[in-house]
Amino acid sequence: VNHLLGIKYLKEQDIQLIFETADHFKEVINRSIKKVPSLRDITIANVFFENSTRTKLSFELAEKRLSADVINFSAGQSSVKKGETLIDTVNNILAMKVDMVVMRHPNPGAGIFLSKHVKASIVNAGDGAHEHPTQALLDSYSIREKLGDVAGKNVVIVGDILHSRVALSNIFALKLQGANVKVCGPKTLLPKYIESLGVGVETNLKKALEWCDVANMLRIQNERLDISYFPTTREYTQQYGVNKKLLQSLDKEIVIMHPGPINRGVEITSDVADSKQSIILNQVENGVAIRMAVIYLLASKIK
Ligand code: CP
Repeated sequence: VNHLLGIKYLKEQDIQLIFETADHFKEVINRSIKKVPSLRDITIANVFFENSTRTKLSFELAEKRLSADVINFSAGQSSVKKGETLIDTVNNILAMKVDMVVMRHPNPGAGIFLSKHVKASIVNAGDGAHEHPTQALLDSYSIREKLGDVAGKNVVIVGDILHSRVALSNIFALKLQGANVKVCGPKTLLPKYIESLGVGVETNLKKALEWCDVANMLRIQNERLDISYFPTTREYTQQYGVNKKLLQSLDKEIVIMHPGPINRGVEITSDVADSKQSIILNQVENGVAIRMAVIYLLASKIK
């Protein structure tokens, strides 16, 4: 059985195959062909133990555009609330002849755990502060679309790196493709092992922006903060928030990204998020083609 559990388990050629497949699906969608018959005999369950807007909806749309049968599960409205375990929950779903499970879970490694205990293809849609592989794929795909290539580009990931699955998956994906990567944020929100991942560290936002071609702005993951981290939100915005004045003080135009959800006025101001420099909604658009590609390639190994 094949899975997508993290970028850590991929090779550079896997990413290129996903991108080429996504190119094909994006071209098909752009021709207003919104549905292809590829996965008519595949059933997919989207199993979400954590809230989501973009990931959940774009997986569902990707599956429907491939003509798969789709069922959606939200833990909050399920028998998990009566004490049912993760494995029992998924095995009951699989008993309904489901082939693939797309899962978001608050616990790091939940997808890896599940893949060892159930007979289905597992796609990790975000596991705690561990990995969010399809987000990193759509982020790199969006850089490739905007700048022509990912190799050789300078990319800075700004914000709460410590609690971010988006940061870790992006670091793995960008490094695999030959990008130069730095992280930027307050020391309290950078993991101690960060330099062992082969990325640079810059605590001064202006210097980081002067260095980069692309800045990927992350929000503070308040839901994962279990102690009071310095700085406060106001201090964070003063030191690490990106605004128009700061961007205009640079001697070049950089690309601004954000995985969403945005906390407007905290890590990014509206005049930046909604500017020409921002590719935030392109990232969301590309999420559908990337998820179609991932599901299509995994399903081709089931059939
Ligand atoms: N980027 C992202 O994962 O957004 P959602 O939490 O809304 O899915």
